[in-house]
Amino acid sequence: MKYPKLFAPGKIGNLTVKNRIVMAALAMGVAEKDQTIGPAFLAYLMERAKGGVGMIVLENTRVDDKHGVAAECQASVARDEHIAPLAAAAEALHKEGVVFFTQLHHPGRETFSNLNGSEPVWSSSSRPCGVCQQETHEMTTEEVEEVIAKFVAGAVRSQKAGCDGVELHGAHGYLISQFLSPYTNQRTDRFGGSFEKRFNFVKEITEGIQKACGRDFPIGIRLTVDELLAPNGVKEYLTLEDGVRICQACEKLGMVYINVSNGIYESFNSLSEPMTYPQGCRSERIRAVKEKVGIPVIAVNMVKEPWFAEKMLEEGLVDFVGLGRAVVADPQWAKKAYEGREDEINRCISCTFCFETLVADTIAGKGPVKCAVNPRAARETLYPAFKKEGAGRTVAIVGSGPAGLEAARVLAERGFAPVIFEKGEKAGGQINIADKPPHKEKIDWIIEYELKQLAMKGITVKTNTEATPENIRALAPYAVIIATGAESIRPRSIKGVNNANVLTVDETLLGRPEISGKKVLLIGSGATGLETAEFLCAKGNEVTVAEMLDAIGKGVYVQHYLDAMDKLSKYDVKYLPSHKLTEITADGAVLEDLKENKNVTVPADYVVLSLGVKSVNTLEAECKKFCDKTFAVGDARQPGRVESAVREGFEAAWDLK
Ligand SMILES: Cc1cc2nc3c(=O)[nH]c(=O)nc-3n(C[C@H](O)[C@H](O)[C@H](O)COP(=O)(O)O)c2cc1C
Ligand code: SF4
Repeated sequence: MKYPKLFAPGKIGNLTVKNRIVMAALAMGVAEKDQTIGPAFLAYLMERAKGGVGMIVLENTRVDDKHGVAAECQASVARDEHIAPLAAAAEALHKEGVVFFTQLHHPGRETFSNLNGSEPVWSSSSRPCGVCQQETHEMTTEEVEEVIAKFVAGAVRSQKAGCDGVELHGAHGYLISQFLSPYTNQRTDRFGGSFEKRFNFVKEITEGIQKACGRDFPIGIRLTVDELLAPNGVKEYLTLEDGVRICQACEKLGMVYINVSNGIYESFNSLSEPMTYPQGCRSERIRAVKEKVGIPVIAVNMVKEPWFAEKMLEEGLVDFVGLGRAVVADPQWAKKAYEGREDEINRCISCTFCFETLVADTIAGKGPVKCAVNPRAARETLYPAFKKEGAGRTVAIVGSGPAGLEAARVLAERGFAPVIFEKGEKAGGQINIADKPPHKEKIDWIIEYELKQLAMKGITVKTNTEATPENIRALAPYAVIIATGAESIRPRSIKGVNNANVLTVDETLLGRPEISGKKVLLIGSGATGLETAEFLCAKGNEVTVAEMLDAIGKGVYVQHYLDAMDKLSKYDVKYLPSHKLTEITADGAVLEDLKENKNVTVPADYVVLSLGVKSVNTLEAECKKFCDKTFAVGDARQPGRVESAVREGFEAAWDLK
């Protein structure tokens, strides 16, 4: 047994958990429109249960239909009709030996009025959430009591459904967290004014549940133990010292575990960290709690790999390891670790695409969360078992980036015989460029996973082999998948664009040539531009970022923007928003200042263009002449993100008839 600590049974209150792996609550938007757990949700949960986790905490589970709505397709225990489907889920999960808790949740101010009867959102005080920016109503004492009763009723329904316990969602700036924090609680009744009074909300909920469900019914709590608001300039907020004190008070109340977390919406990246954060980035805060409480401590900690989970247990940092995105990306994470097949795990690369889709789509009821590396996540009923009908037929795949390799993997699973052409010396396509900025190594995991899966089926990538219509045709392929990716745009209309001092981001990141100690003008502040700026800064260059739009990083997903700007703040970068590139000269560039309506000259040794990419697809039309089942996928079809590349590769292979 490679991970003895991870797979040792553990106790939570009176419950025995078969191992130390707890699937953390994850809002996936996969509940039915009436918030019951239907076939899609059950399939999602069961895959993770069969995949070996010891305990599952259901997603943020609604207790209040009127002012407590976080998303349309959200699990709920707000009404009696939710009990029976929840009971079916509990029964099925118990058959897999999984301990199952609901996560009782009220969003308070961290939601939207349009989800809550177009009324102002409720909170402990009237300070609006800086992210949601909704008119916020300070709950009256009676309203607080009403919500306490709803939490209790939610616990009773969870118990009736056969759940093993409930986890109070006291983290991430939601309502319980709002009451606990001096930042969001300025009340003067019995629910605010001092530490003890701020604690009364969670205390009365807990005592209410204990009274209604019996003291034996396990109650755990997920807590933000530090709001991490100092970088936002907030003076008074819930600090780690407060957080530890709250944990101790929860233990005294008879709670059976503390699930340590951190952050609120306003300290965004602390909620679900981006790729640049290392495994273990929360250890300091977890340790502070573990040292001061006797009940079991569960914690997520950017854990992506079993060795790290084992290390946390070995060091006594936690009693149970929380896995969030790791089991979205690979539902079989625990099983593979148990069987010593950790090199087969589809590791979460922490790209935060799931969170992005949660915010952009799921909350608004526009479909479940999406995972960049696992197109089946939250779509298990749409994509059940692979149809093995390939019968050994050859499929030519051109390009070995994420789209091509994912297509090959799925085709191989289906019994086709993929032949993968790669003109470069290494598989990976644009991932071999995307992994170059600082702290982006995790992105390589996509390729490592695909290559491992293919190798297990005896399939290798034909590197240094350029595909031509002739050599593809020679295979007499049943289908052809064009996954030739994209290349940087170098707009011909700009004077001087082909000068020796002009590089694309691809050339820059690949070190062709290596640039250090130079003055660099980078044009374009999209996500790639900002990452390239950091790459250049880290090599000792003096960097200016020019952007035609009126703000730097406009349109970049907020987590990536905050992360990139945080990293860049360590360097002396000059930003020029509203500046359009008009000409490149031998010693710099001429930019049009769109606000002042005048041209400015920016001296630079190099001008790096980050102006987007265009598809590379020279083979599709040719191949269609001899193979009507020819499809372009990923960037070759249309430039997109890693998620669309993987998904299109997956879908093309899944749909091939
Ligand atoms: C899509 C998504 C939904 C989430 N929903 C919840 C939730 O319902 N309740 C909760 O406590 N945390 C939620 N989280 C936070 C995760 O449980 C977890 O704390 C976070 O992703 C960091 O852990 P990880 O690196 O293991 O994923 C969510 C995170 C993501 C990415
Ligand atoms: S979308 Fe990205 S961060 Fe989210 S689970 Fe998938 S790989 Fe991980």
